[in-house]
Amino acid sequence: MTLTEIIETFKTKLNPSKIMDSLEKKASFYDESEYSGDGSGEDLKNNPYGNLTGGSVENPGVTRITQNEKDPLIKLTNVWKIYQMGEVEFAALKGIDLEIYEGEFLVVLGPSGSGKSTLMNLLGCLDLPSEGSVLLNSKDISELDESELARIRGQMIGFIFQSFNLIPTLSTEENVLLPLEFQEEDIEVARKKAAYLLDIVGLSNKKKNLPSQLSGGQRQRVAIARSLAVNPPIILADEPTGNLDTKTGDYILDFLDGLHEREGKTIIIVTHDLDLVKYATRVVYIRDGEIEKIEDRKKNKTEE
Ligand SMILES: Nc1ncnc2c1ncn2[C@@H]1O[C@H](COP(=O)(O)OP(=O)(O)OP(=O)(O)O)[C@@H](O)[C@H]1O
Ligand SMILES: [Mg+2]
Repeated sequence: MTLTEIIETFKTKLNPSKIMDSLEKKASFYDESEYSGDGSGEDLKNNPYGNLTGGSVENPGVTRITQNEKDPLIKLTNVWKIYQMGEVEFAALKGIDLEIYEGEFLVVLGPSGSGKSTLMNLLGCLDLPSEGSVLLNSKDISELDESELARIRGQMIGFIFQSFNLIPTLSTEENVLLPLEFQEEDIEVARKKAAYLLDIVGLSNKKKNLPSQLSGGQRQRVAIARSLAVNPPIILADEPTGNLDTKTGDYILDFLDGLHEREGKTIIIVTHDLDLVKYATRVVYIRDGEIEKIEDRKKNKTEE
């Protein structure tokens, strides 16, 4: 399968209305909470993702990327990442072997400096390994050129970064529009999608604010709206609850959990927060750039 074919498969298999259904369910949470945007709910009634296909929460489907569920979605083999600082080399990842399957809720747990963000950059095709291989749907990312990597990032992966990576000179609305513009989405449709997502994350009244004019939790929510704009099948989140209050943090995790449960999305979170383990179907413990252990588990969201 060529990369173009793989991408075409994603496009045809993606069912953007399903994610919107789950968002709408979640929106009822906002309607009763302080997060409710302008309170109008107008954008929710005009779901711009709704006309594309016909899925529903009652009839969930799982987006399949890999041809066989036994095939890993992402496979890392003896991955090293060595940072060069002048004469000095630093190995941030030291021979990582890891297979990630579609539909997993994977939590990578490790202390500060253990290599989590470095690993995340490789999983998200933002960086290439110094040694070893990263296969995405059996394709070695080191063999792809930058435009192919950019296409994969744009269509397959939603990023929730540690620093949020909002563009400081763009407003809330423009930040959410950005990935849709890269997809050459019709601007009117893109505006509707952005309005819809911002209503859901309760920021309709902050559309014109710059990131510097938002609180940390609000920035995080802009980043989430942006990461969902193109309805990606894989979501990568780097410390999604860092610096957030418990309520906002719980909200974000429940939201991701909903996408996993209802949409069959593959969620990969890196964190040092032990609390997030309860959402995971598998936990990878990482320390000093090495995997310490891997634990299969059942979700148990009631555990303390
Ligand atoms: N560009 C770089 N050049 C040199 N060293 C780097 C670079 N990026 C990261 N490192 C080093 O690699 C190690 C792993 O960094 P990384 O950001 O992956 O850690 P982390 O587990 O995400 O930590 P945190 O929980 O604090 O975010 C650290 O010791 C860091 O200092
Ligand atoms: Mg980090």
